[in-house]
Amino acid sequence: MERMPYSEPYKIKTVESIKVLTHQERQAKIKEAGYNLFNLRSEDVYIDLLTDSGTGAMSDKQWSAIMTGDESYAGSKSFFKMKDKIVDLLKMPYVIPTHQGRAAENVLFSALIKEGDIIPGNTHFDTTKGHIEFRNAFACDCTINEASDADNEHPFKGNVDIGQLESVIKQNRSKVPFVVLTVTCNSGGGQPVSMDNIKAVSDTCRKYDITLVFDVARFAENAYFIKTREKGYEDKSITEIVAEMFSYADACTMSAKKDGIVNIGGFIALRSEELYKQCSVFTIIYEGYLTYGGMAGRDMAALAVGLEEVTDFDYLRSRIGQVQRLGKKLQDAGIPIIKPVGGHAIYVDAMKFFPHIPQDQLPAQTLGVELYTEAGVRGVEIGIVLADRDPITRENRKPKFDLLRLAIPRRVYTENHMEVVVWGLKKVHERRNSCKGLELTYEAPIMRHFTARFKKLD
Ligand code: F0G
Repeated sequence: MERMPYSEPYKIKTVESIKVLTHQERQAKIKEAGYNLFNLRSEDVYIDLLTDSGTGAMSDKQWSAIMTGDESYAGSKSFFKMKDKIVDLLKMPYVIPTHQGRAAENVLFSALIKEGDIIPGNTHFDTTKGHIEFRNAFACDCTINEASDADNEHPFKGNVDIGQLESVIKQNRSKVPFVVLTVTCNSGGGQPVSMDNIKAVSDTCRKYDITLVFDVARFAENAYFIKTREKGYEDKSITEIVAEMFSYADACTMSAKKDGIVNIGGFIALRSEELYKQCSVFTIIYEGYLTYGGMAGRDMAALAVGLEEVTDFDYLRSRIGQVQRLGKKLQDAGIPIIKPVGGHAIYVDAMKFFPHIPQDQLPAQTLGVELYTEAGVRGVEIGIVLADRDPITRENRKPKFDLLRLAIPRRVYTENHMEVVVWGLKKVHERRNSCKGLELTYEAPIMRHFTARFKKLD
């Protein structure tokens, strides 16, 4: 029997108007912004794919939770609603709310990292790496080699190379306090980690008595890929897969702005009472009392509902399906992207898109500017600008890829919006040979990408 097509498992109840500027107006806006997409006002953007973080649409149930969630400094019902949901889902007994993901990293890493430590992982996210390096420790990337080949269709490109992990641990025995596994791996293209690999990382950590921390901003999307790509998991529910994934971890940090489908929030979940006690001190100093950690009660109540909704298979199928369909359309149009398409974003390979623009003339930043000018679509550069300068030599670090990330917010845009994205990229691609690169005219000493200014090369 022919399968019935599926669609979003929700209908739209409230809408927000967006305006479309003219081509000329956009040209003026981006020039005024110093050709930095971060400097644009969001009202001047038609389709905003800068991030999928804190940009999702909450459901009617989440909005009701906002109204009924109570506020209290200590012991609110909202906190317990959130905590109970997290314990039920992740099966970790200790939960600490934080105002967002990097705050969870700050608290946990304050308890775990000392100067000179080495933290292996699978391409640490920028803030994770930042919190490691800020403590004069080192992030060591042990991702499998397949991940550095844009055309390799490996289904779990977020996997760790276990041999490499073990040798890093063996060579630095007393300097590795924990391993961090990011699921899905954002910096690697939103690529998932297989259950088999999660288990192997966990076995390695146990063998050497090392804590295993998960960065779980997109944990449900990772579970969806395990269900749809890994043998033996096709008949398991998303919540069963999530429970198994977390059974291998000792602790996790969460940016609830992604798979919590809330606009702000995060948390730490832990198994060890001792570590919970250590984190408690840092939470109170940095975030707030242990039952709110920088979040409003109503936001914790909405997060409890978001965590329920994000593990719904139909939701995940439509969310990831939208990203996959966009990827397919771009590939069919000959736009070079990282393959296979990950869970939350498309990564356009700008050095392939503009083979005539050398990396030091900023191909991904150029593509971001051209796409905004063409179609009002905002992406984000993940390339030489973001990679910044080497802190010692002050030379530009040259990452292997210069990418434009188009991150899709959850439950926000329709297929028609995605058609505009495809159209815009096709148009820029048609005139790619006439596009010129950019040059930096201002850069801050660190984290330059946020405030840099550029000029167009003639
Ligand atoms: N870990 C991962 C994997 C992330 O993608 C992010 C944020 C964080 C931690 C930090 O969380 O923003 O709540 O403090 N990623 C956003 C992005 C910013 O656009 O990918 P946060």
